[in-house]
Amino acid sequence: MSRRRQIYEGKAKILYEGPEPGTIIQYFKDDATAFNNQKKGTINGKGVLNNRISEHIFTLLGQIGVPTHFIRRLNMREQLVRQVEIVPIEVIVRNVAAGTLSKRLGIEEGTPLPRTILEYCYKDDALGDPMISDEHIACFGWASQEEMHEISDMAIRVNDFLSGLFAGIGIRLVDFKLEFGRVWENDFSRIILADEISPDGCRLWDMKSNEKLDKDRFRRDLGGEVEAYQEVARRLGLMPEDGGGPDTVLNLDEARKARAKD
Ligand code: C5P
Repeated sequence: MSRRRQIYEGKAKILYEGPEPGTIIQYFKDDATAFNNQKKGTINGKGVLNNRISEHIFTLLGQIGVPTHFIRRLNMREQLVRQVEIVPIEVIVRNVAAGTLSKRLGIEEGTPLPRTILEYCYKDDALGDPMISDEHIACFGWASQEEMHEISDMAIRVNDFLSGLFAGIGIRLVDFKLEFGRVWENDFSRIILADEISPDGCRLWDMKSNEKLDKDRFRRDLGGEVEAYQEVARRLGLMPEDGGGPDTVLNLDEARKARAKD
């Protein structure tokens, strides 16, 4: 196999040059980091699960008309995506108080918010992804006003859809992070959803027990990380009911495809 050119290595993913111009391969690692890289670890099988969960969610979002970078999953750990110019803003969508919002404002974790809150952070690891406002975004030209309208509309749309999707499988979507990118067509650019949507970047609580099914298990040393991610995959219908290791997710998928071909 020819060696592919690595474009970038992030905390949880590696990006390689794709097979055609304008494409990129996203490789999902098992590495986990928290608190701006201060805590590091490995969650065996996480990359396989996140690849599959993110594929599923991006496919569903595409079906309801949300433009995304996702093209197709290539194998257990890789997916082909469109190359974008990343907008250097992390968009946090919050439905229930938790994490840094609770800390910052002294609101008890688990308090439902009277309305959904959108927050923006400047994507810069060295600065610890500081929170910013629309004013900073406009002042420093990180995105135009028109782009920010598209981004906030899309974030709310994604939230509405995902809140319903997760509620249908007994999971509360507490909060999550989105990233967006620009794609250029002729002289015009448009905004599409990029990165990934997985338990790494969402808070997902079981509706009955409030059990955490996301990266807070790693952040807070609760243990059972891979089991929690598997439970999310299982409820999304991506795993057999009797469980199995992370590999089972994709084997089952391949098995379904093979059966459909017969
Ligand atoms: O830490 P905080 O409470 O601000 O996180 C809000 C949500 O955004 C959480 O679901 C968290 O997983 C996600 N997040 C993320 N990457 C970051 C910051 C937050 O995925 N750099």
